[in-house]
Amino acid sequence: MANTATIEINGQKQEFPLIEGTEKEVAIDIKALRAATGGFITLDPGYKNTGSCESGITFLDGEKGILRYRGYTIEELAEKADFLEVAFLLIFGELPTKEQLDKFHEDIKKNSIVDEDVKKILDAFPKAAHPMGVLSSLTSALTAFNPSSVDVDSEEDMYNSVVRILGKFPVLVAWAMRKKSGMPLDYGDKNLGYVENILKMMFKKPNEEYVQNKILVDALDKLLILHADHEQNCSTSTVRIVGSSHAGLFASISAGISALWGPLHGGANQAVLEMLEAIKEDGGDTKKYMAKAKDKADPFRLMGFGHRVYKNFDPRAKIIKVAADEVLGDLGIEDPILNIAKGLEQEALNDDYFVKRKLYPNVDFYSGIIYRAMEIPTDMFTVMFALGRLPGWIAQWREMRLRKEPIGRPRQLYTGATKRAFVSINKR
Ligand code: SDX
Repeated sequence: MANTATIEINGQKQEFPLIEGTEKEVAIDIKALRAATGGFITLDPGYKNTGSCESGITFLDGEKGILRYRGYTIEELAEKADFLEVAFLLIFGELPTKEQLDKFHEDIKKNSIVDEDVKKILDAFPKAAHPMGVLSSLTSALTAFNPSSVDVDSEEDMYNSVVRILGKFPVLVAWAMRKKSGMPLDYGDKNLGYVENILKMMFKKPNEEYVQNKILVDALDKLLILHADHEQNCSTSTVRIVGSSHAGLFASISAGISALWGPLHGGANQAVLEMLEAIKEDGGDTKKYMAKAKDKADPFRLMGFGHRVYKNFDPRAKIIKVAADEVLGDLGIEDPILNIAKGLEQEALNDDYFVKRKLYPNVDFYSGIIYRAMEIPTDMFTVMFALGRLPGWIAQWREMRLRKEPIGRPRQLYTGATKRAFVSINKR
């Protein structure tokens, strides 16, 4: 293969280097494009063909439905690792030894208390506030209570910011949920595992002991692993670009939470459950919703279907679908919503509109069914996505900062009014 790409503009040929990644993907390096061509830029709304960075964290192949974190397949990690181990792997690049993992967890526990004044911010929200808005605000507020975690350069300061957010974020998640239900804000128990503690903070009732349910612990641990990173998706790109201005880790994560909130992105897991419940209320008429999804005049989309990169099964969706059956079976729950989801999937996989556009179930299609079985409120589903994605956001932010990448500032093609003279108001 040649090692350059040639662009010819008005008879002028310019050569641009080709860069090959470790998985044989190839990029045209256009860093010098504008200077070499006297001002030409590329245009690619939604960045469907544009790489924003080189990264060594997550590899995915959308055509083959492959997903690996630091070279390990998502299938192996979901089956053999636990969430904190995967968080360490994503952030620091290697699976931890037992000693490394124990120290990491201890450092996180030391940082898992949130300043009591944060509760005053939480109190100011109406009960009806969406938990993603609450979480994004409280995460940004962490900056005010941890000013040393803002513009960190040294690896030691970066590490302290990492264990701080991994310690405090689950508390904010639990508080966002308990605020809506009017439950007292709980701190859990530092003697518990990371995921056990999250469940206790979320669900412990003030008048009874919280008894761990291994089915729920294992299900949540697996779901968090499956959501932990996904290369340069919308919210991760947001974290990287906010972090590139040196705005600090908490502010960058807060921005990522806001990006994830959208129903086209992480908010889809909530939208899927609402769609499935609407279909159930409608007598299970999946055909009507399939028709709506295909009707260009109708803004309705089949939520949980389609993906910017996966043009094959999302490997996470496959794992979650199996887990949904297992968890509901283990809990002895018969949920008609699961059968509606499976029916919808079968219809879509055999429908020309979806087949032609390579629209398959994505990570959000089945995850809400497990959250619902765990008695997590529907508007908390995307918060659970953020909880899982936290290590990925941290890892991507850290990689960007350690590599001292430049501030993100895309160009544009201006198509507005050309120069014109001001007209005073009495002449308009
Ligand atoms: C996540 O990027 C990531 O990695 C994200 C994520 C992660 O882990 O971070 O994987 C998590 O966000 C998963 C996606 C969750 N979103 C949804 O489930 C919402 C429903 N899906 C769509 O809105 C859509 O599929 C997107 C947003 C996910 C992807 O959209 P693209 O890549 O911009 O594709 P597109 O909108 O250009 O669609 C191509 C065609 C269009 O039809 P035509 O114009 O060709 O006729 O497919 C159609 C679309 O109308 N289409 C759908 C559809 N998704 C795409 N039609 C009906 N239902 C759908 N769900």
